[in-house]
Amino acid sequence: ADGLKLAAAGKLTVCTHLPFKPFQVRDTKGAIVGFDVDYMDLVAKKLGLTQTIVDTPFEGIKSGQDLKIGKCDVAAAGMTITKTRQQVMDFSVPYFDNTQSLLVKAGQPYKTLADFKGKKIGGEVGNTGLKFAQNNAAKYGFTVVEYQDTTTLQQALATNQIQGAMDDLPIWTVLVAEDKRFTIATKFATNEQYGYSVAKGANPKLLATVNEVITSSLKDGSYAKLYTKWMQL
Ligand code: ARG
Repeated sequence: ADGLKLAAAGKLTVCTHLPFKPFQVRDTKGAIVGFDVDYMDLVAKKLGLTQTIVDTPFEGIKSGQDLKIGKCDVAAAGMTITKTRQQVMDFSVPYFDNTQSLLVKAGQPYKTLADFKGKKIGGEVGNTGLKFAQNNAAKYGFTVVEYQDTTTLQQALATNQIQGAMDDLPIWTVLVAEDKRFTIATKFATNEQYGYSVAKGANPKLLATVNEVITSSLKDGSYAKLYTKWMQL
């Protein structure tokens, strides 16, 4: 494909951070599946490439570093578009609306942030949810604890090391549908939008293709299909 800068010939190399179900997660056979994975397959197909996924810490993704050093061509990680991140990478048009949500153990009395005085709330390293929790910690008197991924975060909650877990609403919505130990105490109107991203200034043709795929999928019904396939919102 002309005008494309690729990390590996013939491949669309995608950086993500697992697990982030339903956007990217390993199925029971170990294959990486999810909403973002299906989307990147559409982009790869359009370019005559095959997708290959690199699972890597979120810090390297959100800092723009992985894209900059050519570890991957595109980041697809349920990543929120923020002003800070826009300075270090080029985002696609938005493809998903998100708000923060607070997961608690079922049957616990936590309803609002005010109920967490003297308690602990966990979040994922480098995430908008962690930042949101940190920004509210002093006001409500809770402590924030950082975890590497959604698995360690929910395990910490399950084992009472923390009393609340802050993360993106679609993630906790899918989890509570499957795991009755947990419930969503409250949601916050953080008004986030996810975008896919490429290296800053370096891959305009790839970015244009990602945008075309998003825009046309909204019109031709393929977005709606993927949404129904993966979301339980
Ligand atoms: N939307 C949040 C953010 O951008 C969380 C993304 C986490 N993604 C992941 N694949 N673990 O900060």
